[in-house]
Amino acid sequence: MILGIETSCDETAAALVADGTILSNVVASQMDLHAKFGGIVPEIAARKHVEAIGYVIKEAIDSAGKSLADVEAVAVTSKYGLVGSLLVGVAAAKSLAYTARIPLVGIHHIEGHIFANILSHPELPLPHVCLTVSGGHSMLVYVKGLCRYEVMGNTLDDAAGEAFDKVAKFLGLGFPGGPVIDRLSAQGDRAAFNFPRPLRGSKAVDFSFSGLKTAVVNMFKGRDRAKLPLADIAASFQEAVVDHLVSKTLQAASQKDVSAIGVTGGVAMNRRLREVFAETCPREGYQVFFTSPDLCGDNAAMVAAAGSARLRYREVDGLDLGVVAHAPLESVR
Ligand code: KG4
Ligand code: ZN
Repeated sequence: MILGIETSCDETAAALVADGTILSNVVASQMDLHAKFGGIVPEIAARKHVEAIGYVIKEAIDSAGKSLADVEAVAVTSKYGLVGSLLVGVAAAKSLAYTARIPLVGIHHIEGHIFANILSHPELPLPHVCLTVSGGHSMLVYVKGLCRYEVMGNTLDDAAGEAFDKVAKFLGLGFPGGPVIDRLSAQGDRAAFNFPRPLRGSKAVDFSFSGLKTAVVNMFKGRDRAKLPLADIAASFQEAVVDHLVSKTLQAASQKDVSAIGVTGGVAMNRRLREVFAETCPREGYQVFFTSPDLCGDNAAMVAAAGSARLRYREVDGLDLGVVAHAPLESVR
């Protein structure tokens, strides 16, 4: 039974997972606090993690009907995220590992998102190509086996979720932007505006979203917001993002001998993204697996699941475990 802890961004999360079954999954979101700033404020995030972490861990253990004595190991996100935020989770995990005399394992946040999909679909074939997209990253990973990765592509500038958030902010739609644009797009015409499709024709399977965001800003800058066709702009922008994500993912999959594609991370909640993947993948000969909605955003069940796999490879960290803001995604040694 593994306790997972996740504090890499603005969610304070803890979960108990045993043999691929989620016993509890507690997430305390700070979203409302950051919304008025139109983005995550790192200092506020770290302070709020300090306030919440003790309660969140206790709730994860209590709501599973367990006690600390039942916990056999602790997995914590130690890489990839805001340093001040990561430090809070890692300090809590170390204290628990030390006092309960249980193994500690540090997890890369992106590996967590990949495991959110494996946790959602135990039948997900290995190898597969995984698109992992959120507010902090956009990556294409060839998942060769459990904890064995090759990063195929990355964003060259903004993350996909960041682009949703920035365009929503420009249009005065609020934060986080992804869910608002997703909802508004349902009433809009996705062919109303022809926004650019980045890196089309390039052999690389990287992403770029900042030019797309700037194209939206340049087209409507200085215009009276009340007169803007917001639903049409949202739908056309979303279509360009989805087109870019799906085409690069299919391009990546065609470079590997895989039959399955995984889609995970906060942006994997997007309904149009799911629709287009669901339409195109079978046509191109791939099965597609979407992380279940409750595990798309940051959570600790995914961290516990990754920890469980790493422990099977006997990967354990010492109490000197540090945090790293931008670490490469590494395979098990
Ligand atoms: O994985 P996540 O909860 O946190 C990070 O690791 O960043 O992802 C949050 C991101 C935000 O940028 C948010 O706007 C985006 O995911 N998002 C969406 C949707 N729901 C959340 N983007 C597009 N469509 C959605 N339905
Ligand atoms: Zn994330």
